Formats: sequence, C-alpha cells, structure tokens
Amino acid sequence: MKLCMIGTGYVGLVSGTCFADIGNEVVCVDKDEKKIKKLNQGSSPIYEPGLDELIKKNFLAKRLRFTTNLKDAINSSDIIFICVGTPTKKGSLKVDLSFVFKCTKDILRFSKKKKIIVTKSTVPVGTGDEIEKILKKRKKNFSIISNPEFLREGEAIRDFRYPDRIVIGSNDKNVFKIMKKLYLPSINKGTKFITTTRRGAELIKYASNAFLATKITFINEVANLCEKSGVNIEDVSLGMGSDNRIGSRFLRAGPAYGGSCFPKDTKGLVSAADKYKINLSVVKSVIKSNQERVNLLTQRIHKILGSNLKNKKISFLGVTFKPNTDDMRDSTSLKMIPYLCKKGAKVNYYDPSGEKKEFKKIKNCKYTKNIKSNCSGADLIVLLTEWDEFKSLDFKKIVKNGKLKIYDLRNLYSAEEMKKNKIKYFSVGRPNIN
Ligand code: UDX
Repeated sequence: MKLCMIGTGYVGLVSGTCFADIGNEVVCVDKDEKKIKKLNQGSSPIYEPGLDELIKKNFLAKRLRFTTNLKDAINSSDIIFICVGTPTKKGSLKVDLSFVFKCTKDILRFSKKKKIIVTKSTVPVGTGDEIEKILKKRKKNFSIISNPEFLREGEAIRDFRYPDRIVIGSNDKNVFKIMKKLYLPSINKGTKFITTTRRGAELIKYASNAFLATKITFINEVANLCEKSGVNIEDVSLGMGSDNRIGSRFLRAGPAYGGSCFPKDTKGLVSAADKYKINLSVVKSVIKSNQERVNLLTQRIHKILGSNLKNKKISFLGVTFKPNTDDMRDSTSLKMIPYLCKKGAKVNYYDPSGEKKEFKKIKNCKYTKNIKSNCSGADLIVLLTEWDEFKSLDFKKIVKNGKLKIYDLRNLYSAEEMKKNKIKYFSVGRPNIN
C-alpha cells in the first residue's frame, strides 16, 4: 500500500519505517529540513535501538523515502497518517491540537483524490469530528479514522511487530477491511484486531495510558507504606500481579513516571472529561501524587545525607526517564538535580545516551564520560535509570570509598548483598536493613 506519514517524530518515524519493512511504499514528510536531510543520509534523528539499521535497509530497498514536499507526499499516497505532536498547552491541562488541524487543512488543500486519513497522534475524544468539520467541503473524498499507537520508547520496533492489539476506530465500516490488510502481518501472528467507533478508539488510547499511569502511581504509594511498615514492595507486586485480573506488568515501584505520554495523556484525559462535565477524580489524584513524588524522593536524600547538602558530592547513574532512550521529557532528574544543586550539592551524572542540554547551564552539575569517574569520591550514588550497564556493578571496585552510600530508585540490587559488602544501601519500598 502507498502510505504517507506526516511528522517524523517518534510515532511517525518508527511506524513509517516498520510499515515499509513489511512491504509498503512509505513516504515520511516533515517541515524540518535538517531532519529530512539527516534521514536522507541514512541516520535517525531519534535514539531508538535498531531503528537506524531498519531505516537504511528500507531506504536502500526504495520502500522508504523522506521529503519536505507535503503536496507530493500526499498525492503519492492512499492512506495519510497524521503523526504530529499533541503537546499540553502551557499553563493548562488542555491538549494543543493546532498541529493536527494545520495538517488537516494542508491535506484539504493538496489532495486531489479520495484518501483515508488516520490520526496516529494521541488526540482527545471527538477530535476526529473536528477534523471532519474542517474537511466538510469535500467530506466525501475522505474517510477519517483513528488508529492510536501504543509503542514504548526503547522497545518501539518490537512493540510494532508484536503488539498486544491493533485498534481501529471508524464510522465508515468499509475502511476496516483496508486497515486489516495493512496490519495482516501482525494479525497473522495472533495480534487482536479491535474495531470500534472513531471516538471509541480515541478514548481507548487515553484510558489505557491513564490506567497504566494509575497502576504505577498506586504501587509507588504502596511502596511508601512498605518502607514504613517493614514490608518488601517486590513481594507485594508479585503477590498482587499473580492475580490474572490485576496482571504483573507496570507494578514496579520507582521514581515518578515520566516520558512523552503518561504525564501528557493523564492531563489530556482530565481536560477532555472536564469538557463533558465529568470529574475523573482518580486520574486527577494520580497526576498530583506523581508530581509530589519527586519531593518525597528528595526528602529521602536529605534523610540519607542530612539537611545540609553543601559540597556533598552526589553522582547520578542515568538521567533519562527510562533506559534505551535519550528522552528527558518529564524525567525525575529534571527536578531532582536542579534542587540538589541549589542546595549546594555537587552533582555529577553519567548516562549511556550522553550529555544533556537540560543540565548545561546548572551550576555545580557536571557530565562525566564513564561510570568510574562519575562515582569516584561520591558521598551518595543515585541510581535513577535502569540501563543494562548499571545492573551488575561491583561498587566496591568502582568506588574506593569506605563510606559508600547508594540510593537505588529502581531496586536493581539486593539489600542483603550490599550489607554484606558494607555498603549503605537505600532503595524503594523495602525495609531498611542498614
Ligand atoms: C508509554 C506507553 O507504555 C505506550 O503504550 C504509549 O504509547 C507511550 O507511552 P513510554 O512512555 O515509552 O510508553 O514508556 P513506558 O515503558 O510505558 O514507561 C513510562 C514511565 O513509567 C517511565 O517513567 C517508567 O520508568 C515508568 N514505569 C513503568 C514505572 O515506574 N514502573 C513500571 O512498572 C513501568
């Protein structure tokens, strides 16, 4: 099939490349000339394991091309995927849909033949209806459908190939057959193909992300209780998750959830519900609890190092919101590091995805190129992101410091082992055995 992806951000680029890899002819279009130039030279502007290779392979096979020429891209395709950003409006919970609507107007202006328009961007319930209103002059020429993506950063290619489900929302039933054909390689491997109304699909995406955010926040709050009551959160997660009705995934306690989706989508859902005068009180509490979590974790650092942090050397292992990505959006580090530096601490950080522009201007914050130089002489090591290379470190060898203290926000290590090695070890939701 001939596909056009508008927007070469995370969603558009990964989906476009993977669609090409299963035999479609895909054109990815973006107004950012630098990005398109980079892509045409065969390198990905985003960090995603395996993506560079897949782009090169499909580019060389001439199934995948990149352009800034929207008119040409639209007219050479039958299905147009809207993959532009839907950020939160500054100072509110509302979703900024201006990029989606701009894109719709462009499609109306440029397209000559009948097209299927698919919103892949996460949009509030009813957005497809708004798109339809913009296209009303030539409504018959378009089918507007919703096909939300559920790709996780760092695991996006695998998630595209083996999704749990594919959701297609359309008020025009004829489109289901075409979309089923497009996704046949995954459906043949056993993926559920769910069809619903357009509004239904839009809401499935928001409700899914808000539910996952709720699950994480719930276990994080139970972890707080575990710390006080001397229980191990991992026992609780295992015990709860073994109930099939609950499920074991997304029950890992840790820092506040972050990334490009959960913080934005929980807010977007609350604001969409407000429009219908529905109070989503649970989701509102989740947003609040997650925002407050950073304070709770910094208070813990004070407990470990004392109230005066002046000249204390704190070393972070990992600063991205999760491993296998360079994405810093809503990472706990963005609040934690500036706070600690303001209190006079000297912060070093190492992250496998490299130095971060977000910390360049912060006084007392320094990027180091490897684990050893990052941690040497530290008063406290904060393990924030669970990159593989942090999972089996021999801290005694890395840091020749008798008073070594570690705050492991991902529970990667055994408290008992640490005690045996005479390391003061603090983690999340476990009894303190120091
Ligand atoms: C998420 C959704 O999973 C995906 O379906 C959607 O399309 C985009 O948003 P992503 O943001 O890439 O994906 O990461 P995810 O792996 O879901 O993690 C999100 C946040 O939750 C991270 O901060 C992660 O550390 C945290 N998390 C996740 C936990 O704290 N505990 C868990 O058990 C799982």
